[in-house]
Amino acid sequence: MGEEMENMSVNTSSKTEDENHVPAEDGAVKYYTRDEVQAHNMSKDTWLIIHDKVYDITSFLEEHPGGEEVLLEQAGSDATESFEDVGHSTDAREMLQQYYIGELHEDDRKKETKKEVYITTSKESSSWSTWLIPAVAVAVVGFMYRYYMLEHKSS
Ligand code: HEM
Repeated sequence: MGEEMENMSVNTSSKTEDENHVPAEDGAVKYYTRDEVQAHNMSKDTWLIIHDKVYDITSFLEEHPGGEEVLLEQAGSDATESFEDVGHSTDAREMLQQYYIGELHEDDRKKETKKEVYITTSKESSSWSTWLIPAVAVAVVGFMYRYYMLEHKSS
């Protein structure tokens, strides 16, 4: 009898964390892959990725001032760009915290390093224009000076 009671209580407590998707109480961060997030792409179960963080916004859909349509379009995917395009207020950013459930897995984060390469190599082709304009200016001033001197000599 006593043993049975103990088993029952173990079963009920292990259920709660998985159902609510709440980060563990000891502060440990939960990591999700893009595939895991992608599975939550319906109105009854809606997750989003914004800035490499994962949010369960199911209960927020109806409250969203911008309507639930736009959120459902992004359901299960990375909504960082659309979230930033709208220019959400600081209030909106603070609201996000209520729906936070974990982080995007390191391997699934976008690498930002490639962009910088383009900036450093693009200068070469325009370098001729940096000396051509002053050179033409010097030549014009030179001709004007010669012309001025000739005029003065002849008069
Ligand atoms: C869970 C994430 C989100 C939260 C907490 C949130 C919150 C809010 C809030 C509080 C507003 C009112 C205006 C403001 O304070 O900025 C708003 C407006 C809006 N949001 Fe969101 N939003 C979220 C995600 C998104 C996403 C992913 C999109 C686009 C796909 C979006 C599109 C819009 C639009 C179009 C408006 C209306 C702007 C206007 O009428 O001026 N939101 N949102």
